[in-house]
Amino acid sequence: MMNSSDLQKKAAGEKAAELVKGGMIIGLGSGSTVYWFLKRLGELVNAGLKVKGVPSSLRTEGWAREFNIPLTDFSETQILDLAIDGADEVDPDFNLTKGGGGSLLREKIVDANAKKLIIIVDESKLVKQLGKFPLPVEIVPFGWELTSKRIAELGAIPQLRVKDGEVFVSNNGNYILDCQFERIPNPKELHKQLKQIIGVVETGLFVEMTDLVLVGSTGKVEALNRME
Ligand code: A5P
Repeated sequence: MMNSSDLQKKAAGEKAAELVKGGMIIGLGSGSTVYWFLKRLGELVNAGLKVKGVPSSLRTEGWAREFNIPLTDFSETQILDLAIDGADEVDPDFNLTKGGGGSLLREKIVDANAKKLIIIVDESKLVKQLGKFPLPVEIVPFGWELTSKRIAELGAIPQLRVKDGEVFVSNNGNYILDCQFERIPNPKELHKQLKQIIGVVETGLFVEMTDLVLVGSTGKVEALNRME
């Protein structure tokens, strides 16, 4: 039985697939909402739609193959027509927290190189201010304890991500620190500060990147456009 959040994710993901046009090269995000997008996109591909996708995680790559979506990579193409991705938090300016699934670095490379970024979420992801969801920060394993200390000096409580009793290792061989800030009033500034710390590879703050947010809610999908 799907709960209401799953139904909202499914609705948003399927709606996003309708925005894909023949001939496009699509950035394929990661996460459980993107799963529904990929499933629907696969159906459209099987019905004749011609597209290629660049996956942002090994998991997404596996789903794309399962659904028969042709894949490509950055050796073949430099600019993507569109990227579709999920998020952990979305603020009113369309700043995002991402990386709950651990794919933030590849997602950012994919999303930043798309002409248009569409974010698909359920209602629970819309927040007034980022920060409740611990901010994922991808760091180099060597000296991670020191990197963690430097991040804590910015006012966070960083927690090394562990999965199934083992330190979680990203698709890029890095660690993730889930950093609880009390609140993130200025995501752009915090991102800059974090990037200056030696050992930080990338942050889960996606600032000024999103063009459109599709929010699944009961029985409908609302499209939010960014106010310029
Ligand atoms: C993956 O690392 C994340 O950035 C996802 O995009 C984010 O966690 C959203 O995932 P769900 O769609 O599963 O909520």
